[in-house]
Amino acid sequence: MSGVRSRFGATREPPGEQIDSGGINAQTSRAVRNHLRIGNYFASYEERAGNMSKRALITGVTGQDGAYLSQLLLAQGYEVYGSYRRSSSPSLWRLDALGVTKQIKPVTLDLLEFSNILKVIDKVRPHEVYNLASQSFVGVSFEQPLYTADVDALGVARLLEAVRTVDPGIRYYQASTSEMFGRARSSPQTETTAFYPRSPYGVAKLFAHWTTVNHRECYGMHASSGILFNHESPMRGLDFVTRKITAGLARIRQGQQDVLELGNLDAKRDWGFAGDYVHGMWLMVQQERADDYLLATGEVRSVRDFIDCAAQVAGFTLNWHGEGAGQHAIDRVSGKTVVRVNPDFYRPAEIDLLTGDPSKAEQQLGWKRQVSFPRLVEMMVEADLERAQKGTLGP
Ligand SMILES: NC(=O)c1ccc[n+]([C@@H]2O[C@H](COP(=O)([O-])OP(=O)(O)OC[C@H]3O[C@@H](n4cnc5c(N)ncnc54)[C@H](OP(=O)(O)O)[C@@H]3O)[C@@H](O)[C@H]2O)c1
Repeated sequence: MSGVRSRFGATREPPGEQIDSGGINAQTSRAVRNHLRIGNYFASYEERAGNMSKRALITGVTGQDGAYLSQLLLAQGYEVYGSYRRSSSPSLWRLDALGVTKQIKPVTLDLLEFSNILKVIDKVRPHEVYNLASQSFVGVSFEQPLYTADVDALGVARLLEAVRTVDPGIRYYQASTSEMFGRARSSPQTETTAFYPRSPYGVAKLFAHWTTVNHRECYGMHASSGILFNHESPMRGLDFVTRKITAGLARIRQGQQDVLELGNLDAKRDWGFAGDYVHGMWLMVQQERADDYLLATGEVRSVRDFIDCAAQVAGFTLNWHGEGAGQHAIDRVSGKTVVRVNPDFYRPAEIDLLTGDPSKAEQQLGWKRQVSFPRLVEMMVEADLERAQKGTLGP
């Protein structure tokens, strides 16, 4: 593990990840400072000395949720092991931006390789495992359905079996998703709404969800499945629609891009802040009995709503024209087309509306989200405007 440690400790940005250069760490910007202040509610957990001796393993630590969860657990005094896939240049920009890279103990783990997983669990002997690793992009899952199933479905079975083999008393969290509801049978969705996934990603995650439930019920493991609706942040990957919008508008504002092209603007989602959602994950694992919980805001917004809100923060006033694939938005001040639909981005099977009812989590876990939709959008746009100004947003 020592070679790995030195790579994690390094300050250089990996190639291809220049979008958040060391500038954020070295010279923390206003937007990112604001954003980190929101993340700072984790600081209040430092008083809880009860977790001082706990050891957690977070798979997918380099992802959005992995970075925020690391921050939360470290603030509580956990010893945090973070797993990432072996590569010549691990993607550390999120951990760097949240200032936690050097406090995490790195381990290499790939959900495709059982012997590797088993060795890591045996070596780390965590009290809690948070499985956040996955091929998490719905769009890619249509192109790579078998790979997605291998990582997101069988990978979870491998991990749960490794945990069961080493110590079935280890507490386990599975990152499940609202995409399992797909063509939802009723709205808002709850923990008991029937599933109807509409993508290879949703299908694979559904297998993982039931595998988690099954390990709880058949083997008595403390395994919980968190059915999380979309959660975003300035740490979201650039391929996801919210970040594509905020990054695109920031580049257009800086003259680095002409127009923002998107797929289905009518899709309606339930968007929250990632920091709030990782707190919910932790609460689930602390319960005496494992269970399944849904985390959502209960508020419905369309992709177009997200664009309007983000455009306002970026200083545009949009007028919408056309219908369907002909929809486009013109900025009232410049008269230029800022957004237009590109049918190439339509998915083979669309999901029109997803929104969740988080009552069970609110009542049983005491979970409550802190960040509103407008504040979330503002946080993301401000961070991307600053990155674009500094030229660190990438192409
Ligand atoms: N964000 C949401 O709105 C949302 C909603 C519901 C559920 N989820 C689920 O919650 C989890 C965290 O989401 P996120 O937004 O943080 O996702 P993310 O940013 O895409 O992070 C995914 C992580 O999984 C790792 N990974 C990918 N393939 C792997 C493999 N074969 N073995 C080990 N690690 C692998 C990635 O590592 P690399 O850096 O090497 O690629 C990355 O660290 C995911 O399971 C996602 O499906 C997310």
